Amino acid sequence: MTEDISSVGRHFDYLAPEYDANATARGWRSNAVLGEMLGDLGCAPRSVLDLGAGTGATVSEVLAHTNPVRVVAVDASGGMVDYMQERFAGDTRIECVRAPVAEYLESTDESFDLVTAVSVLPFNSEVQTFIDGMAGHVNPGGNCIFTYEPVNPMHPLQSERETTLRNETVGTAATIHRQHPNEIAAAVLRAEMQLVDNRLFLPLPGSDPVLLAGIVVARNPHED
Ligand SMILES: C[S@@+](CC[C@H](N)C(=O)[O-])C[C@H]1O[C@@H](n2cnc3c(N)ncnc32)[C@H](O)[C@@H]1O
Repeated sequence: MTEDISSVGRHFDYLAPEYDANATARGWRSNAVLGEMLGDLGCAPRSVLDLGAGTGATVSEVLAHTNPVRVVAVDASGGMVDYMQERFAGDTRIECVRAPVAEYLESTDESFDLVTAVSVLPFNSEVQTFIDGMAGHVNPGGNCIFTYEPVNPMHPLQSERETTLRNETVGTAATIHRQHPNEIAAAVLRAEMQLVDNRLFLPLPGSDPVLLAGIVVARNPHED
C-alpha cells in the first residue's frame, strides 16, 4: 500500500514544536552517526539533497562535516519546515522545500554530489521506489547515505515488520516499515548503486530492550 504522506506530514506537524528537544533529551544519535560516516568517507560534496529534512538536524550535521555550496532540504511537514527555515535563516546555501519526496524528485532533473535521508525511509512503504528516487539524483561518483529500521528480534516492536503510530487527537497515523539488512542491500543493487557500507548501530545507546537502526552508504558507480 502506498503511504499517505499527508498523514505522515501532519503527524510531524504535531511533533514539530518539541521535536529537537525530544531528540536531544532521548540522546537520539542517528545524525551523529551520519556525521561519523561522512568523516570516514572524506567526501567533499558541493551539492547536497536532504530528503525528509525535518527541522534541519541532518543538514546541520552535513554542514559540520562538509562544505557544500548548495543544499536542498525537502520535507512534507510544513510544521517541521518552519523550524528548519528558522534554523537556517540567512544562509543562502540552503533551500527549504515543503513537498513529499516523490513529488519533489519528479519535479527536478537536478543531481547532487550527496543525497541524505535520516530516519525517513521507515515512514515509506515503497522502499525500492524511495531508493530508486535517491539513486536517480546522485551525480556520477556521488554518494547517498540513508538510515533504515531493521527487523530486530531482540525488540518487541522492532520484531514486527510494521508498527502504526496513531495520534487520536489530530487523527493522524504514521506507519513504521522495517526491513532486513539483506533486503536493503538488494534494493540498493537493483537501483544500480554500489553498496559501500551497510551497518547496524545503536541510535539510543543503553536502550533496553536493544533498539537498532541501520545506515547505508551507496555510491553512483557510473562515469561522468
Ligand atoms: C523522524 S523525522 C527525521 C528528520 C531529520 N532527517 C532528522 O534526522 O532529524 C522524519 C521526517 O521525514 C519526513 N518524511 C517522511 N517521509 C516523507 C516523504 N515521503 N516525503 C516528505 N517528507 C517525508 C517527515 O515529515 C519528518 O519530518
